[in-house]
Amino acid sequence: MAREIFKTRLGFLLIAAGCAVGIGNVWRFPYIVGQYGGAYFVLIYLFFLLALGIPLLTVELAIGRASRSSMAYCYEKLEQPKALWHHNKWWQFSGNYFLMAFYVVVAGWMLYYFVSFASSSIPQGITRDEAASHFGALLGSPSTMLICVLATVIFSFSIVALGVIRGIERFTKPLMVILILLLIFMALRSFTLDGFVKGVKFYLEPNFSRLEGRFGEAIFAAMGQAFFTLSVGFGAIAIFGSYMSERHKILNEAIFIAMLDTIVAFLSGFVIFPACYTYGIEPDAGPNLLFMTMTVVFSNMALGGFWGTLFFLFMLIAAVSTMIAVFESSIAGTMELFKISRVKSVLINFVVITSMCLLPLFGFNLLSDVHIISSDSSFLEFFDFLVSNNIMPLGSVVFVLFVCSKTGMTFKRYIDECNVGKGFNMSYKLFFYYKYVLTAIVLVVYVVGIYQLFFAK
Ligand code: ALA
Repeated sequence: MAREIFKTRLGFLLIAAGCAVGIGNVWRFPYIVGQYGGAYFVLIYLFFLLALGIPLLTVELAIGRASRSSMAYCYEKLEQPKALWHHNKWWQFSGNYFLMAFYVVVAGWMLYYFVSFASSSIPQGITRDEAASHFGALLGSPSTMLICVLATVIFSFSIVALGVIRGIERFTKPLMVILILLLIFMALRSFTLDGFVKGVKFYLEPNFSRLEGRFGEAIFAAMGQAFFTLSVGFGAIAIFGSYMSERHKILNEAIFIAMLDTIVAFLSGFVIFPACYTYGIEPDAGPNLLFMTMTVVFSNMALGGFWGTLFFLFMLIAAVSTMIAVFESSIAGTMELFKISRVKSVLINFVVITSMCLLPLFGFNLLSDVHIISSDSSFLEFFDFLVSNNIMPLGSVVFVLFVCSKTGMTFKRYIDECNVGKGFNMSYKLFFYYKYVLTAIVLVVYVVGIYQLFFAK
């Protein structure tokens, strides 16, 4: 069967952006910015986005478009005879599964809170302790979590089962438009809140004291965030490159995806922090920010049921758009690897993902005594660490070395592929930067980050 190509450019752009825009933007970005010095952190992050993020997007899109294949055979189609690059595909491809195994659990929480606000089952005026015990009750109930996870997973798989144009393009485009409209609506409304100035101050005021002694940690966090938010290093962006038309140059598309991703991340903070300060609530880090702090905020707000429903719908759409995209990467990979139909591949992947997600899910209840990275970390954090701190950066380095290598795609072919179509050209002179500077930045930050995490405490 001929490979599907997206019908419209907007379809491709919104879907690739949907793969990028997710929990990383609407939840992780705001809280890390608040944690690490506001505007200073944003600057460090923007540096990584320009220095690494956009080049890495072009690398994956070019690999996908030139090979017209998923992770299953993209290396084989582009490498030189007898080269061994393709052995990397296995561990990189596993990134799709480890990412989704914990991601679907968080998406399930979002669905749970969306339904709770929509059905008014969160009482008005709850306190922080009550919100904590509400979230604790959810974590303690594997069956409730499983139902929520299954609902989001079945919805996303059903869309992917319909195919690239009839399913993914048809559904993700309107979902992304709704996401952007919801975000603009909620961000505009934030301006009218009493806590707007205080909230934005906490979020963006350059505050060096929050960075003191943790500069290295902040750099590691900023780089990790750039990888996570763009979904690079494990083939999820490459798959959309493989469905992309040749009408536009790859750099243009990469800049658009990175810009939309950053705008969504940035504006999400404008929705969250002013609301917290309006109700005199200190914003938290981690899961607590959304599922406790924001629950207290909405339950104390006039028309809180309405705003809470919109907020969690927004979060849910962001998560589902990423799930659809990453599922497509694993489903297309499985189809090509085993030469099976889309429907069979959907069924196999459904079983694999729902089995794998049981570990992070039970990690909060039945397996809560099992800790892997540190004495109080959960399975969810372990999977997150595996993907965000390891597979994404190392997979990205392998992709970059692959396009630079004479036994790989070769730099000439990479640049030629990027320059097909209309738009901004890329130059062969970037070779030195890619091969030595870009890879060195990633590897140095990676090694220092791992050292700090495990040995410097
Ligand atoms: N890029 C995805 C996100 O930001 C994984 O959530």
